[in-house]
Amino acid sequence: MGDHFFSAEPQSADVRRTVEARIWDKPYVFTTATGVFSRDRLDIGTSVLLRSVDAPTGPGTFLDLGCGYGPIACALAVEAPEATVWAVDVNNRALELAELNAKAAGVGDRVRAALPDDVPDDVRFDQLWSNPAIHIGKAELHKMLLHWLGRLAPGGVGWFVVGKNLGGDSLQRWMTDQGYPCTRVASAKGFRVLRATNAGPAPS
Ligand SMILES: C[S@@+](CC[C@H](N)C(=O)[O-])C[C@H]1O[C@@H](n2cnc3c(N)ncnc32)[C@H](O)[C@@H]1O
Repeated sequence: MGDHFFSAEPQSADVRRTVEARIWDKPYVFTTATGVFSRDRLDIGTSVLLRSVDAPTGPGTFLDLGCGYGPIACALAVEAPEATVWAVDVNNRALELAELNAKAAGVGDRVRAALPDDVPDDVRFDQLWSNPAIHIGKAELHKMLLHWLGRLAPGGVGWFVVGKNLGGDSLQRWMTDQGYPCTRVASAKGFRVLRATNAGPAPS
């Protein structure tokens, strides 16, 4: 099988480099590597997401679903100094980098890089942020999203960025149909930024 960025153990040599980015008006230098998503620059979709949504500032438990080398997780933890951020990915190299980048950003104590199965069952999220792995296929994508949306706390919010030509609009409808009312909050550079909520149990 080819060495996709979502391989658990990328086969390519681990060649590292750094990329600079400005997120919510703060400068970051991230270490990236071969075998992880968008190793040459902050991904455009991720950048659209972070420019379209205000940074969270309060306490809480946040999730960066599909964290890659961790740009979203690190920025969330920097902006919200009382929050704990779970950075989840299936790619071990990405998790190693997310941990490294969190330490470099001074938030290593509050960013928990973990494989999906290693997040304790009782953890619930006030916010979910994701540039999701569309390329895993619709069935897997839906399964992954349902799993993590189901772990949003009542009233919790999910922020997503999805390419319009990768099904952003149909994903918006699908989340709404699944019981997570979803609206488009921005559209830029071919990406949709979506906000889904866990409305909680329907009133009886
Ligand atoms: C589009 S990339 C975004 C990476 C990073 N958040 C960024 O903005 O650069 C999606 C990530 O999801 C990860 N991924 C793939 N399948 C996953 C799954 N089932 N659960 C969690 N992460 C997954 C991939 O390894 C990849 O790092």
